[in-house]
Amino acid sequence: MSNWRPDSWHEKTAAQQVTYPDEAKLRAVATEMGRLPPLVTSWEIEALKGHLAKAARGEAFVLQGGDCAESFDDCSSESIAAKLKILLQMSLVLVHGSRRPVVRVGRIAGQYAKPRSTDYETRDGVTLPAYRGDNVNRPGFTEAERRPEPELMLRGYERASLTLNFIRALADGGFADMEHPEYWDLSFAKTSRHAGEYERIVGAIRESLSFTRAVSGLDLADLRRIEFFTSHEGLSLHYEEAQTRRVPRREGWYDLSTHYPWIGMRTAQLDGAHVEFFRGIQNPIAIKVGAAMTEEWLLGLLEALNPHRELGRITLIHRVGADKVTEYLPKLVSWVERAKHPVLWVCDPMHGNTETTADGIKTRRFDRILFEVEAALDVHNKMGTVQGGVHFELTGENVTECMGGASGIDAGDLKRDYRTKVDPRLNCDQALEMAMLIASRARRQR
Ligand code: PEP
Ligand code: CO
Repeated sequence: MSNWRPDSWHEKTAAQQVTYPDEAKLRAVATEMGRLPPLVTSWEIEALKGHLAKAARGEAFVLQGGDCAESFDDCSSESIAAKLKILLQMSLVLVHGSRRPVVRVGRIAGQYAKPRSTDYETRDGVTLPAYRGDNVNRPGFTEAERRPEPELMLRGYERASLTLNFIRALADGGFADMEHPEYWDLSFAKTSRHAGEYERIVGAIRESLSFTRAVSGLDLADLRRIEFFTSHEGLSLHYEEAQTRRVPRREGWYDLSTHYPWIGMRTAQLDGAHVEFFRGIQNPIAIKVGAAMTEEWLLGLLEALNPHRELGRITLIHRVGADKVTEYLPKLVSWVERAKHPVLWVCDPMHGNTETTADGIKTRRFDRILFEVEAALDVHNKMGTVQGGVHFELTGENVTECMGGASGIDAGDLKRDYRTKVDPRLNCDQALEMAMLIASRARRQR
C-alpha cells in the first residue's frame, strides 16, 4: 500500500462530487473534523469484519437497513428509536426463522450524501443544482439552499455523533419491552392470510426470551444488550478522508466515520477516486452491483479492493431488480466463484425496483421487493453459494411511500404521508412483514 494515502484519491477523477467555491473553508472544515474524536473504533470495525466473514460462510445473516437519505431534521429521539426498534424486531424474527445470529447494520449516523442521476433539477422553468444530501446542500428549491457548503459536513458529523450516542445508549440498556405484547403491534396484518403465522412467530420469540432469561439466570439487562453497527455510502471523499486515521497497535488506516462504508453504483469506476480511497482503508466494505456490471469490471474491483482475499472484507450488494435477478445473479455469482474471490452476498431488493406512478410519485411495490429477495435465495440455493444478508430502505414510522403489504397501501394512499427526501422506504409494518415472510421461508428450508 506504499503509494496510498488518505488523500491519494485527489489524483483521480471523483464522480458525483460537488465543487466547493471556497477552498479555504473546505480545508478548515476538514481540519476541524480530523481533530474531533472518531465516531467508531477500530475494534468494533474488526469485530464486524469477523461477523461478516461468518455471514459469508452461512453462519450468520446480515440485516442492513435504514433511510435512503437521513436528514438533519430527522435527528430526533422518536425517529432514531423507531428505526432501531424496527431493525431489532426484524432481526429477532430472522433469528427465529433462520436459527442464525443476525448482524444488525443501520444505514444510519452518516447517510447524508446522495449520488444523483442528474446534476440539475428544473421546476417551472427554474434550474438549480440537484439536492445531494444534507451533508452537501439542502432540499429546499432556492439558490441559497442548493449551494454546497463545507460546514454542512461538520453539521453532519455532529448529527451522526448525536445519533450514535443515542443508539449506543439504547442498545446497551433499553428495549426492555421485547417480551411484552404491546411491543409487537401486528394489527396491520389482521386481515392477512398470514395473520395466524405472524402471531405464532411473535409468541415463540417472546417465549424464547423469557425462557432464556429463566434458564440462564442472567439479569435482563445482559440479555437486552444488543450489538449494532453503522454504515453509509462513502460518497463524499472529503468527509471520509477527514475521519480516516491510524490507531495504536494496529496496522493501516481506518475510516472511523462508520463501521461499514459502501461504494455506490455510480462511483465504482475502476480508475476512479472512490476505488482509490477504499482500497487503502481497513474497514469491511461493500460494493453495490447493478445489471451494468461486467465480469472484467467486477473482478478488477475485487483485485483492487481485496488483493489478499480476506474473508469478511468485501460484501457485494446486488440490486438488479425483480425482472433481472433470475437471469443476471447467476452470472455474477459464477464470475466471482470462478475467480475464487471470497465475498459476502447481500441482496438489495430496493434500488432495482423503483417506479414512478401516473401522478409522478416515486414508489416501490412490496411484492416486487419480496420477489427479488426470494429469487436471490433460490439462485444461491441452486448454485450452492450463500445469500448472507438483505439490505432495505426502511423507516420505523408508518409513512406511505411503498405500495402493498398487508396494510394495503395503494397508489391513492401514497400522498397521505410521503416524507422521504430521495427514495421510497418500507414503513414499519411493511418492514416487519417482509422479515416475517423471509423468516417463514427460511424456517421451511431448515
Ligand atoms: C442507495 O443505496 O441509496 C443507492 C443510491 O444505491 P445504488 O448506488 O445501488 O443506486
Ligand atoms: Co436509495
